[in-house]
Amino acid sequence: MAYKARSIYDMIGGDAPLQLMVEAFYAAVAQDELLRPMYPPDLEAPKRRLYLFLVQFFGGPRRYSEERGHPRLRMRHFPFAIDMQARDHWLKHMLAAIEAAEIAEPARSQMQEYFARSSAFLINRSEENHGEG
Ligand code: HEM
Repeated sequence: MAYKARSIYDMIGGDAPLQLMVEAFYAAVAQDELLRPMYPPDLEAPKRRLYLFLVQFFGGPRRYSEERGHPRLRMRHFPFAIDMQARDHWLKHMLAAIEAAEIAEPARSQMQEYFARSSAFLINRSEENHGEG
């Protein structure tokens, strides 16, 4: 019988913990003076997009791509000036969201690593040139 690795989505028990994470994450973004202006006034649509993306990425139903197509995250983030400081804020809120949702090991460490790596990959401006590079 072929061995199939259990997805993070299965390990954590499906949608509910991801829903909790996204709620906690956007509650923090709403209070963040650096990040908040990058997002539209109403955070409901971004919430839904991030939620569907995480469900899909961690191994659940592929509803993100049904609604949005290929994620192309680097391209979709180019309009936003993401320097190291913005990345640090984003990652801090996401790591706190993992705690808030009480994600257990080993999914916890896997998520922490994934978000550290993917947020670094989305840096698209350097600090020196004030958002024009
Ligand atoms: C590095 C710091 C980051 C910043 C400052 C940032 C900021 C933003 C902003 C302002 C939006 C637009 C809100 C919307 O209309 O949905 C967005 C969208 C999105 N972000 Fe990020 N983001 C960051 C990292 C990440 C990472 C690491 C991921 C995934 C692991 C991610 C996943 C998404 C997704 C899925 C969307 C919606 C894309 C779409 O379908 O249009 N972001 N982000």
